[in-house]
This record gives sequence, structure tokens and C-alpha cells, in this order.
Amino acid sequence: MKILVTGGTGYIGSHTVLALLEAGHDVVALDNFCNSSAVSLTRVERLSGKSSLLIEGDVRDRALLDQLFAEQAIDAVLHFAGLKALEESVRNPLEYYKNNVSGSVTLVQAMAEAGVWRLVFSSSATVYGEPSQMPICESFPTSKPTNPYGRSKLMVEEMLQDLVNADGRWSVALLRYFNPVGAHESGMIGEDPDGTPNNLLPSISRVAVGAMKKLFVYGGDYPTADGTCIRDYIHVMDLALGHLRALEFMRDQRGVNIWNLGTGIGYSVLEMVRAFERVSGRAVPIEIVARRVGDIAECWADTSKAAEELNWRAERGLDVMMQDLWCWQSKNPYGYSRLEK
Ligand code: UD1
Repeated sequence: MKILVTGGTGYIGSHTVLALLEAGHDVVALDNFCNSSAVSLTRVERLSGKSSLLIEGDVRDRALLDQLFAEQAIDAVLHFAGLKALEESVRNPLEYYKNNVSGSVTLVQAMAEAGVWRLVFSSSATVYGEPSQMPICESFPTSKPTNPYGRSKLMVEEMLQDLVNADGRWSVALLRYFNPVGAHESGMIGEDPDGTPNNLLPSISRVAVGAMKKLFVYGGDYPTADGTCIRDYIHVMDLALGHLRALEFMRDQRGVNIWNLGTGIGYSVLEMVRAFERVSGRAVPIEIVARRVGDIAECWADTSKAAEELNWRAERGLDVMMQDLWCWQSKNPYGYSRLEK
């Protein structure tokens, strides 16, 4: 198939492009490089020995999309492009609605016009809010998110549901990611956040390479075994493969399908720090500080729906996640060099 990957040079996008190329698909990647570098795809091409077409542009640019769909016979779209920094979304909400919501509206309009009806959307476990019970099944109600980032994800999910209700030609997958971590085993591609990272694993690895002095652990008084929050961390290559399985499933299906992409196992912040130290041999000094606003105590997935319907399960365990993260971070202490372009 020929797949359009929006946000194709970003963290999850680039790993998924690699998985698509390795599976024999053709890839057209679209990215505005607002939080990523074209170097990721240069490296994907080196790793796969295959090339993809990279177009610089924005998903809100309708003329560009129309031209792209007219020139390329796209079979399906994987839509990763979007902003994802939760705190930034509180300070600058309109950017989130413009990029994440308007961007998605423009994309599906252009798809419909071009007769492309298959769409995989990068959603998030954040749409479940704070469920009263674990593990989280897809049938759990979505809840009102507490920040514009979460609201933008839920809005797009609901918009896509409405779209499918209105037009039976659509086949839409809503993939609810838990916490993506790690990197490709080669250490050639990985997560490269701009500035100070917001998420746990990039923060741990930056402390380990000396780019940050210590890790602030947000809250040591949660009702969990060691007092720190529990999350379901999933290796980014497992996550990428989940997209391929979803695409296969959607070949002869219409309507909306929702799948959790997680491992089904929860680890605490302190367990993650210890695992990283064990695997890397580096010390990660920590300081336990106040809770971060909006964090929930625990969150992990029920993965049985994806296992049954997609025949997909995350296969890489905690040590592999840490090994691959460390391999990427130690080979690329400053992420992708902007000079390499
Ligand atoms: C958040 C978002 C999620 C989004 C994901 C990726 C919510 C509630 N969560 O997940 O939607 O998809 O980021 O962008 O909307 N921690 C520390 N110190 C740090 C960093 C994190 O202790 O320096 C802790 C956090 O308190 C949390 C855990 O590590 O308990 C994981 O945090 P993080 O990596 O930011 O992911 P989430 O908040 O789970």
C-alpha cells in the first residue's frame, strides 16, 4: 500500500515509517518540522535500505494536501502530526486547537475529496481521564480531559466518530497510546524533544548523560506500593507494529475501531529509574518533589481487544526499552544534530 504519514519525522512517526518500509509499503511523509528533524528519515532510509518521499508542509495547508493526493495514489493515512506538550497546551491553547483539531479537520476534508477513506489516528489514553478501575478497557467511558492537549485529542476522536456516522465509506482507527518509550534497537532513531523534556524517560536519560543534574520525581505520596505513579510504558517499535496491524485489519472493514496500544503492565516511576540504572550502569540522582498537576496515580491498559482482533501484542519488555533508550541517548547525546541535514 501507499501510506501518507503525517508527522512522519517525529518520534512515533519515524519509527512507524521504518516499520512500514520494512513491511514493503510505500511511504509519503508530510511534516512541518515544528518539533522534529528531517535527519530522522535520512536515518530510516539508511536502516531500511529503502526510500520514502518527504514533503515539507503543514496538515492545515489544504492546497498542499489536494496537490499531494492528486499526485500520489494514497491508500491510507496515518495521522501523527500534532502538538503534544501538555503544559504548553495550557499556556497556548489556540495553537493546540489549530494544529490538532483544525489540522485533522482539513486532513479529512482533503481525504474525502480525494476518495481516501482509511485513517489511523494517534490518540491517547488521556481520553479516559481518571478511571476508577484498572486495567483500562476500550469500552470505558471517555472523560472530560483537564487540559487543552487532552481535549484536542478527544475532540478529534468525537469528530471522527461523527464523520463515520455520516458517511459509511470511512474506515477509522483510533489508537489510544499508553506511554511510548525507547528507540529503534540500532540507536539511530529515537525521541528528540526540543528543550527540557516533559516526559519521564527522556528526562531520565538526559540526567544519565549529564545534560540535567537530577530527576525530579513528581509526588512520592500516591496510593501505590512505593508512593510514585504507575504507567504502562510501551516500546515505540511495538507501538509502530500496532499501526501496521491496524492497517491490515482495516483493509476490508468500515466504521470506527478503537484499540488500546499498551503492554498491560504498569511500572512505578521509581521502578523505571531503577531499571534504567541497572541496564545502563549509570546513576540517576532523584529528588522527590510535589505532585504535578493533572497526574493520575495509575494507568495501564487492558490489551485483550488488540490481541484478539489485531493479533498484536507488545513483545519488548522493560529491559529492552531501557537498553534501546540508552543506546540512542548515548550515541546521540544531543539528539539529531541539526547540522546533519
Ligand atoms: C503524558 C500525558 C499523555 C501524553 C504523554 C506523552 C496526561 C495525563 N498524560 O503522559 O496524554 O500522551 O504525556 O506526551 O495527559 N514524571 C516524573 N518526573 C519527570 C517526568 C515525569 O516524576 O521529570 C512522572 C510523572 O509524574 C508521571 C510519569 O512520570 O507519573 C510519566 O510521566 P510522563 O512521561 O510525562 O507521561 P504521562 O504524564 O503519563
